[in-house]
Amino acid sequence: MMLKARVFDSHAHMDCPHYDADREEVFARLRGEIDGLINPGCDNESSLKAIGYAETYDFVYAAVGWHPQEVLRMQDEDLARLEEWSGHPKVVAIGEIGLDYYYDDCAPRPLQRKRFIEQLDLARKVGLPVIIHDRDAHGDMLEIVAREGKGLSGVFHCYSGSLETARELLKLGFYLGFGGSSTFKNAQKLREVLKHVPEDRLLFETDSPYLTPMPYRGRRNDPAHTLLVAQNAALVRGVEPEELIRKSSENVRKLFDKIR
Ligand code: NI
Repeated sequence: MMLKARVFDSHAHMDCPHYDADREEVFARLRGEIDGLINPGCDNESSLKAIGYAETYDFVYAAVGWHPQEVLRMQDEDLARLEEWSGHPKVVAIGEIGLDYYYDDCAPRPLQRKRFIEQLDLARKVGLPVIIHDRDAHGDMLEIVAREGKGLSGVFHCYSGSLETARELLKLGFYLGFGGSSTFKNAQKLREVLKHVPEDRLLFETDSPYLTPMPYRGRRNDPAHTLLVAQNAALVRGVEPEELIRKSSENVRKLFDKIR
């Protein structure tokens, strides 16, 4: 099906080594295929790479931040670095930041919470939205964003929680991002959530190179696959893909208001 509207991939890690062999070709192709993409950082190095891509390609934007799986290496002075980078015209968010209670070898949970809250405070200080990662930490996450998230906007990327938690997050003003996992056969519960998210709070993403949507599951993901995610969402919601894609691009520019 040919659509006029182009998808915006609100979350893709193009700095990953998966793209080392052909990154420039991938970016050149994407330029003709998608509306834009946001490359979030996970530490100093990946944040800087994201800024580099954003400076090179007009349709690419960067976010800077420390991912919960990386915060063991984060130093206090790194917060000042993030603050400096946040002033760059193409740095549109602080992220990805959050909590990950899935892996046992992650940073200790108290340290994850401390670094997460510090980065929420930074986002408020510099006036940028946040890109949040929440894996198996829904209880603590909800408590922290309700208490520490005042005056902040942001997205829960690759949302994986319950409908109940989704309603709480929507009430707090957050957007929800959906990716390839919403197309998986066993994701019935997630599609139920997807059906209930208001149209003006919905973002699409790939989380490339991971979580490749059906029917390409298992292969390297690609920001152009955002189209498959959006088409599946339209099917689930019983609406026209064209309309939903246009609306989600609008949502991207409303949340990340440095994007033109
Ligand atoms: Ni990510």
